[in-house]
Amino acid sequence: MDRLTQERLIEEIKEHNEIVAVVSEYVQLKPQGRAYVGLCPFHGEKTPSFTVSREKQLYHCFGCGAGGDVLSFIMNIENLTFGEALRLLAERANISLPDQHLSTPQRREKEELERLYKLNDLAARFYQKILLQTETGKRALAYLKERGISRQTAEQFRLGYAPPHWTGLVMFLRQKGIPLQEAEKAGLVRGGGDGYYDRFRDRLLFPILNLRGQVIGFGGRILGEGQPKYLNSPETAIFQKGRSLYGLFQARDQIRREQQALIVEGYMDVLQAHQHGVPWAVASLGTALTTDQVKMLKRYTGRVVIAYDADAAGQAATVRGLDLIQDAGLEVRVAVLPAGEDPDSLLRKEGADSFLRLVAKSVDLFTFKLSYILEREDLSTPSGKARAINQVFPVLSQVRNRIAREGYLKQIAAALSVSEESLYDQWRIYCYNLRKNKQGLDIKNNQRHTIDNTHPQPQLISPEQRLERELLRGCLQEKDNFERIKQKLLMEIRFTSGLYAELLQQLADWDDPGQWPPPANIFAPETRNLYLELLSENELNPLPVDVEGCYRRLRRAQLMKEIQRLQQEVAVTSENQAGNTGSTKNLHEKLALLNELHKKLREEFPTFYGLT
Ligand code: CTP
Ligand code: MN
Repeated sequence: MDRLTQERLIEEIKEHNEIVAVVSEYVQLKPQGRAYVGLCPFHGEKTPSFTVSREKQLYHCFGCGAGGDVLSFIMNIENLTFGEALRLLAERANISLPDQHLSTPQRREKEELERLYKLNDLAARFYQKILLQTETGKRALAYLKERGISRQTAEQFRLGYAPPHWTGLVMFLRQKGIPLQEAEKAGLVRGGGDGYYDRFRDRLLFPILNLRGQVIGFGGRILGEGQPKYLNSPETAIFQKGRSLYGLFQARDQIRREQQALIVEGYMDVLQAHQHGVPWAVASLGTALTTDQVKMLKRYTGRVVIAYDADAAGQAATVRGLDLIQDAGLEVRVAVLPAGEDPDSLLRKEGADSFLRLVAKSVDLFTFKLSYILEREDLSTPSGKARAINQVFPVLSQVRNRIAREGYLKQIAAALSVSEESLYDQWRIYCYNLRKNKQGLDIKNNQRHTIDNTHPQPQLISPEQRLERELLRGCLQEKDNFERIKQKLLMEIRFTSGLYAELLQQLADWDDPGQWPPPANIFAPETRNLYLELLSENELNPLPVDVEGCYRRLRRAQLMKEIQRLQQEVAVTSENQAGNTGSTKNLHEKLALLNELHKKLREEFPTFYGLT
């Protein structure tokens, strides 16, 4: 297609899609002066700043700045590319897009797809007629009635009935002169040669529609008990189970209006929901939602409520199913249904109000997972609590928002009836270990492959520092350890790192006699990390630290180091000395200090001197 024809075509499509009419399908517009106004669909607002001009065939939002013509409106609201939006509007106006730009094989493929759509449509009409207008259909109608499905709902969803004899559809298609190989490709008949027979027999049929309302496949339910309960169309060129949502064609406007989608499991659930005035329901068709399905939903709303039966919801929440929706940026809530009930049974038993109350009481995904875990552990025992925490923390670690996480921690503490502080500390230890394990893996990987300088190598810790850590760690183990040694530590020990000294000072300042070790949140972030490291070391290595022993070794090491340093300085000063009084005075001082240190060392560590 040359440029000129293309532009003419675009103009034609725009002319046949009057903007006020198109926008009105998505936004409630009111005339105001020469324009129309409504609530902007592209940002949340309470007073209308979205205007559409019939004269100019343009829209503009004074709130968020969105604006353009009918094509850009469709692109934005349906999340479509230019070409896709053009096609949608062309179809809306019944303008056929020329196929010239397609290569011959592409055109063949397109024609084949068109044939499949036509065939499915023909079949749906055939089945619907059998259901609604024939003697054969009476049983299926009775079944529908028994399931509480009205004729109106049946018609809205184009339900049908596949007759029990094996060649109902086959004969119908033969009469119409339709090649049965085609019907086989559409998944409607099986066999081959002269042996073609219907795929669906004696089943209530639910046509599955795409977003253009075309039939792409069928689900078929047995009337009553039997196996398999449902039989679906096979995957065909136009039907992939993971790429369609049952009921979305009927539900999408409501979903947009409601600003949320209800996801149920099955055909019957969708039907009952729509019939009971909950027309924003779609079904995932019994399997876990796929990314494709989530993407489709995302075109219409940012929020979904899951209403599966209790078992299925638990399963979906424990496997990746519902995380997938959340990861796509949608808000996921879970409606907790009574055990053994699905939306279909609930709506029938209790009615829409009671069902909607459950929906309104839906909880966010984390809360649902949390209660799912907690319900399965005996929380009256410490080991049950520990098991629950072990399962909850990995789930919590996936919550990226800090504020949300804090809220959840409170929730967990309350549910387990443990103090928020101690849960916080546990949580921080968990995070620390998580990071450490991850780092450990990184380091291992680095060693196996090449040295990657972007990863910090672990810092080597001096023997002295190791003692300092041990000492502090021991103090955290028992309040008594700390009390016995506190004064000496404060007075005599010079820590190699300011962080250690600070940690010690804060421990000394902590004056709640009842709680030891103190909660981590009393420490500044840097000291807190060190503190949590020590706590988690204690967790992993609960053997009591010999704090006195540590102290003595550390003290001795520090004394000796100081003596060494002074001796070196004295040596240097005496070498350089040239009668300079300042430095002589200095030298004397140093010698005196050195003497004193030797004395201390001798007093405090008599055996040490005895040995030399
Ligand atoms: N499903 C399927 N094939 C099966 C079983 C189930 O495709 N063999 C899908 C159907 O979409 C079905 C949904 O999974 O609607 C949920 O299955 P299930 O809970 O077993 O059936 P219900 O929808 O509750 O059907 P009914 O109420 O008629 O028993
Ligand atoms: Mn059911």
